[in-house]
Amino acid sequence: MLPSLFYVPRSLKTRLKRKHNSFKEAGVLGKHGKMVAALTDEVVIKHAEPEHLPSIIEINRLELPENYPPSFFMDLLERFPNYFLVAVLTKTGEVVGYVMCRIETGFPSEGGFTIVRKGHVVSLAVKKQFHGKGIGKTLMTSVLDEMIRNSIDESFLEVRVNNEKAIRLYKALGYHVVREIPHYYLDGTSGLLMVKKLR
Ligand SMILES: CC(C)(COP(=O)(O)OP(=O)(O)OC[C@H]1O[C@@H](n2cnc3c(N)ncnc32)[C@H](O)[C@@H]1OP(=O)(O)O)[C@@H](O)C(=O)NCCC(=O)NCCS
Repeated sequence: MLPSLFYVPRSLKTRLKRKHNSFKEAGVLGKHGKMVAALTDEVVIKHAEPEHLPSIIEINRLELPENYPPSFFMDLLERFPNYFLVAVLTKTGEVVGYVMCRIETGFPSEGGFTIVRKGHVVSLAVKKQFHGKGIGKTLMTSVLDEMIRNSIDESFLEVRVNNEKAIRLYKALGYHVVREIPHYYLDGTSGLLMVKKLR
């Protein structure tokens, strides 16, 4: 039998489950992931859990041209669970958006030779029918709060030069454009490197 599109190897599933169980035992996560913020009565922001991954991968495929294999999402969830958040409908548990980040160490994006810790926003997306309701903004402010709590020095991301909605959101959150990255995306579109200093 061919593996399904969202096939998750059993060993990885077990590892992720174990890790999340240890978080639950430590009281870090609730039954279905710790709630991070309540946007309205209808939408809450939570830490992502392994069972959210198929929905997250589907939203990524529907909303963004940059898609990744399931192992990429699983790896980020395993290594950076505090920086992988989902927006969930309280009534049904449906995942309607996500943000996932990676913590990296290196030189500051704006130049300089000190070594800093950087929160790389790898992917952000909200299901189309839920756009414009503040979900993307709340996912971002929640993950930025987490970075600030953990003394991360800066947050950075790449965005397509023509993605006006996202650029406007990032600017409203305090990111600014550091430089253009020519032909950054596979289809030849250039990217903008945007940075927000956190400390
Ligand atoms: C970008 C994206 C995540 C925004 O999510 P969202 O939930 O629709 O955004 P919000 O409702 O939180 O709006 C946040 C801000 O985005 C901007 N924005 C949202 N909808 C917009 C629209 N239709 N036109 C212009 N700006 C818009 C505004 O600055 C808005 O702030 P404001 O409402 O205070 O003015 C969403 O459009 C999306 O998933 N797009 C496809 C995937 C994508 O492009 N991801 C980013 C890749 S870098």
